[in-house]
Amino acid sequence: MPTTTAPAIGLAIPALARALPRVEDEIRRMATSSSLPIVNEHSGRVTAAGGKRLRSVLILAGTLAVGGSVTDKAVTAAACVELLHAGSLVHDDLMDDAAERRGVPTVNASWGPGPAVLVGDFMLARASQVALTEISPFAAERLAAAVADLVEGQVLEVLDLFNPDRTPEAALRSIALKTGALFRTGCVLAAHCADADEATGARMAEYGARFGLLFQILDDLLDLASTRLRLGKPVGNDVRQGVYTFPLLRAMDPGLRALLVREPGDDEVAEVLARLRRGPMVEDTLAHCRELARQSVEALPVLPASETADILRELPMAYLNWATTLIA
Ligand code: FPP
Ligand code: MG
Repeated sequence: MPTTTAPAIGLAIPALARALPRVEDEIRRMATSSSLPIVNEHSGRVTAAGGKRLRSVLILAGTLAVGGSVTDKAVTAAACVELLHAGSLVHDDLMDDAAERRGVPTVNASWGPGPAVLVGDFMLARASQVALTEISPFAAERLAAAVADLVEGQVLEVLDLFNPDRTPEAALRSIALKTGALFRTGCVLAAHCADADEATGARMAEYGARFGLLFQILDDLLDLASTRLRLGKPVGNDVRQGVYTFPLLRAMDPGLRALLVREPGDDEVAEVLARLRRGPMVEDTLAHCRELARQSVEALPVLPASETADILRELPMAYLNWATTLIA
């Protein structure tokens, strides 16, 4: 596997390497804090499966880079963002009818769709509650606003399912909310935990928003241009489910449009992907992402020289380079 994943970059800095296990402990504490063992079982399993923890690296590196230290509040902020993200994925998997994520059964598959709503709700509620009681009212308010944004982004996606006339701009609006908002909020919380001034918070917010867009566009590209072997999960899901994403919409032409049918079979999905891979989609999308990486770094506040400031500057392109290695 490539070695430039976000956690690998984060682990190169001792302060981050020490803090990330603390975040894991905190996520586990919150995810298994129900009085009902069955809720803990499912919420605990989903969160223990991990993930890239990119949001945690951003929050911790961001806190250090703007002059703060890795306090309990910063660790809790990272854990709250991860728990909220994991809770939203429980709902997302339910909506997608997905059986597995990160190699473990989804809650909808293992316990049922109704309980998956409840487990996701529990995770979101606990993240908000802990943010209020253990970080600050500001943090809780920002996280609640991010949840509302996530929901709106997802609603925009649902409204455009199987719509070949969806514009690339409409797709961007959706992903800025469903993914960009939580990256943005993580970076705002990093500045907050470091007691940074408002202008620094605003610049960190912009950095996070751009990085979130970059992250989701690459996620969407990999679904169209990677392979099951490289990605560790089936590709073509978005086309199958009628989610016409930014990379696909930028490549839209009459030939592609004719292939986009409702409830496509495996052969039809494969034909869409093959057509996209023959065209300029990959290069076009990567060029767009390089520009987003540049814009995100440009948005950063002036930072005192430090290893963590370097990490913030390197992460967007490092993530882009890592994702590029997964393209077939
Ligand atoms: C994953 O994207 C999904 C999200 C980033 C957001 C999901 C949001 C909701 C389900 C709204 C409800 C959320 C809350 C907080 C109540 P994806 O489906 O493109 O990626 P995938 O390939 O990982 O499934
Ligand atoms: Mg999904």
